[in-house]
Amino acid sequence: MKQLFSLLLLCSLSWVSAQKVESPTGTLALTFQLTPDGQPTYAVSYKNKPVVLSSALGVSLKDKTALVNHFEVTGTTTHAVNETWKPVLGEQAQIVNHYNELIVALVQKDSKVKLNLVFRAFDEGVAFRYDFPKQENLNYFIISDEKTEFNLTENHKVFWIPGDFDSNEYVYNETKFSEIDNEKLDLNNGIGVKSIPGKYTVQTPLQMKSPSGLYLNIFEAAVVNYPVMHLDANVQKYTLKANLVPNAIGDKAYLQAPCVSPWRTIMVSDDARKIVSSKLILNLNEPSKIEDTSWIKPMKYVGIWWEMHVGKSTWDYAGSQNAQNAAGNPIPTGKHGATTENTKRYIDFAAKHGFDGVLVEGWNVGWEDWVGNWKEDVFDFTTPYPDFNLEEVSAYAKAKNVKMIMHHETSGSVGNYERHLDRALDLMKKFDYPAAKTGYVGKIIPRGEFHDGQAMVNHFNFVARRFADNKLMVNSHESSHPTGYSRTYPNYIAAESARGNEFNAWSNGNPPAHETILPFTRQLGGPMDYTPGIFEIKMSYYDKNKTEQVHTTLAKQLALYVTMYSPLQMAADLIENYEKYPDAFQFIKDVAMDWDESLYLEAEPGDYLTVARKTKGQDTWFLGAITDENARTTEIKLDFLTKGKKYKAIIYQDAKNAHWEKNPIAYTIKTQVVTSASKLKLQLAAGGGTAISFEPLP
Ligand code: NOJ
Ligand code: CA
Repeated sequence: MKQLFSLLLLCSLSWVSAQKVESPTGTLALTFQLTPDGQPTYAVSYKNKPVVLSSALGVSLKDKTALVNHFEVTGTTTHAVNETWKPVLGEQAQIVNHYNELIVALVQKDSKVKLNLVFRAFDEGVAFRYDFPKQENLNYFIISDEKTEFNLTENHKVFWIPGDFDSNEYVYNETKFSEIDNEKLDLNNGIGVKSIPGKYTVQTPLQMKSPSGLYLNIFEAAVVNYPVMHLDANVQKYTLKANLVPNAIGDKAYLQAPCVSPWRTIMVSDDARKIVSSKLILNLNEPSKIEDTSWIKPMKYVGIWWEMHVGKSTWDYAGSQNAQNAAGNPIPTGKHGATTENTKRYIDFAAKHGFDGVLVEGWNVGWEDWVGNWKEDVFDFTTPYPDFNLEEVSAYAKAKNVKMIMHHETSGSVGNYERHLDRALDLMKKFDYPAAKTGYVGKIIPRGEFHDGQAMVNHFNFVARRFADNKLMVNSHESSHPTGYSRTYPNYIAAESARGNEFNAWSNGNPPAHETILPFTRQLGGPMDYTPGIFEIKMSYYDKNKTEQVHTTLAKQLALYVTMYSPLQMAADLIENYEKYPDAFQFIKDVAMDWDESLYLEAEPGDYLTVARKTKGQDTWFLGAITDENARTTEIKLDFLTKGKKYKAIIYQDAKNAHWEKNPIAYTIKTQVVTSASKLKLQLAAGGGTAISFEPLP
């Protein structure tokens, strides 16, 4: 009897503090509850079925009482928000931000520390964050651990990569949750610096699918002044716990109240298209802080880049031995790619084919010993090699109406880059470079820091802001995963932060399913500089002993310009390879990069993706369809086209006998007149794709 009574008391006690917030249509609901010990918890249900079971919230602080239990609720507030905003560049002209919000104000009984939990329920996902208000009992503090848990209900299928503190350039593993195991991975994968903290640590965005076909995605938004959150999986219990990336002395985040944590997000839908098209991450970021955004423009570019990756030329001028002549000057190897002459060739090509920009890597001194030495002063970002004439190149580009794209490889030496940054940006302005690609290959200096720690997150965000001060755009490689900061600083035009196409040139590469997974994972955080457009697919073309290849058909390389959204897109292959296939190259020339509308017509992570997009301000459409290693036939209704209008559809597709491995280049192009009543049957080869342009007919 006594037991029953205390059980009832327990239930009623916790029930008192239970608070629920539902998404606008009621599909998703999040329930907040304090345990009898005063620990905050939350649970999520989708269509009235639990999808995240009661999961702990809280943070531990260094040298202070942990903010994990003994809390009581001092108040709750709710808000409903339904607004529309316009991204500067984007997949759609307008984005709807529609959610219900619940704020729970807590106080810890003994310490009197106040903590607010902010919960938002959108129709395709829920989000929550910790809010540390200004208060007497908490000013400066150090987070030593975040207790956030995600307790799942079943043994889902998971698309996971190891929770490496230094790299996100992995191939996705598709296994059951119970089979997550970093020790089973083949780490001979081309990644230079790896820091995997444990057997069961994985990265977000973590895309999952339940046995009954529900799609779940765990990620984070607005990671600002905070480290990246990786997740520790308990493979027996199907639970995940936050694992914040530490700094060099093991602490996680240095904060001062008032402040907030990033958002933790859980997307849930029985329709994969709702997840891949979601704007939840952008919606959780602050609006643009840049008032005049007229200088932020999409850029389609070519460059001196793939030729180094395939071994045709080098970044360095004098070779790794840095041979010098009697006068102490470096002796060129003759293989240097970034020469004035070669750059002019690219500028001519860009001008002829209507490209906006030319990227030149290896233009500046330092590449003789840039990687693997953990050396501090490698580059100064302002001194060109003797065979690269900045004045001449920039005058030539200007005359041809082509913009140059700067390259700042830091080799991970971040303090050095920050010391040189203002001069480097002045040089860009002097020579009229509107954008730079940055790079962070190698171990970070200050030594002991990781790519994903708080200091580095702050660095990447600082660089975006400093570029913005100078009206310059930035595209970072090897940076921590984007979490929507490009809404706040739209000049942060793209990032790599995942395994890009380049891995296909010199490692085991990216399997055919890779590009069907990235839109569900990395790309939820912002545009990716994937560098598609490789036409000469097998590396044996350059060297008969090479076995590497891009795991794709040529037609799929075209489709990627549509399926992988980015306002910065490279036509990555060599000029001579495009000149061999001018009819296929036409699609890359035509495809738009900024959109009024994007329709995810078909999507299954790991299998296929079909996307149609309408060009910003024009009635032209583009469609991209891709598949994994399996051939695929599908029929697409063109009911998105304007009714009553005729369109010329140019269809770039795999030839009947195309195959990513056996016959990757074989493609056909056909033209037909279509209307919104038409249907198109698409036949994608194994590892293949289809790209279509639709142009209205008069
Ligand atoms: C890695 C980048 O991802 C790649 O694009 C670049 O060419 C090299 N680093 C050199 O900076
Ligand atoms: Ca890279």
